[in-house]
Amino acid sequence: MSDRKPFLGGNWKMNTNRTTGSDLARGVTDGLISVDGVEPALFPPFPYLLTVRAILRDRGSSIRLGAQDVYFQPDGAFTGEVSVAMLRDCGTQVVLVGHSERRHVLGEKDELINRKLRTVLESGLDAVLCVGETLDERTAGHQDIITARQVKTGLADIPASYLERLVIAYEPVWAIGTGKTATPQDAQDAHAQIRQLIERSYGKDSAQRLRIVYGGSLKPDIAPDIFAQPDVDGGLVGGASLNAADFVALAKAAAAAGRAKR
Ligand code: 13P
Repeated sequence: MSDRKPFLGGNWKMNTNRTTGSDLARGVTDGLISVDGVEPALFPPFPYLLTVRAILRDRGSSIRLGAQDVYFQPDGAFTGEVSVAMLRDCGTQVVLVGHSERRHVLGEKDELINRKLRTVLESGLDAVLCVGETLDERTAGHQDIITARQVKTGLADIPASYLERLVIAYEPVWAIGTGKTATPQDAQDAHAQIRQLIERSYGKDSAQRLRIVYGGSLKPDIAPDIFAQPDVDGGLVGGASLNAADFVALAKAAAAAGRAKR
């Protein structure tokens, strides 16, 4: 039993251009027109936010517009960075924070991620906090410690009232873009652990309401078994979100899994 509405994010990463991104947004929007029971969101690169927003608006779509990152300062001399106010101005509703590529390719630490997350949630926007262990950490048997640290530090000084606007994405780094997926049981175990951590800090109600989604080489053929797990509330998709038919199939699978748990 779960009242949590599945969330499915399409993280386009540093892919698409204005033409292919527009085609993709149209394809996804048209494919999801009569699909309910899932909350889809698209995360295009910053330069295409307004283009995707216009497509979603023209079609009256309820797909949410997301950004892949943000900086915590409101404005000023921070060359190359983008503020929450700028994202709002472009119609962004939800922001990814702490994606593993930001952590491991671009060197972001838990403290910076926490400042970003606080900034997003304080501004009234929704956020997706990404956590997950690397292959080395998993091989050493440290995955629980790493995930717990990322969740705890990421959520430092975040009040319970903000959790309604938060999704946590469990994305094991070794599964991202590698074609390797966590087994449904591994995903369930990690999600259950995260929900327990939330329960300890914020209480049972908050923990039961929080959506925790899986990311890492999700494809339409393997996703239903993962989405069916009791503590998995949808997904965050990279590669497969660049194909409209695959993303639509994943959204339908997430919606079906959500219905089956009600
Ligand atoms: P892939 O689906 O390409 O493995 O990427 C997952 C991811 O990083 C989503 O944020």
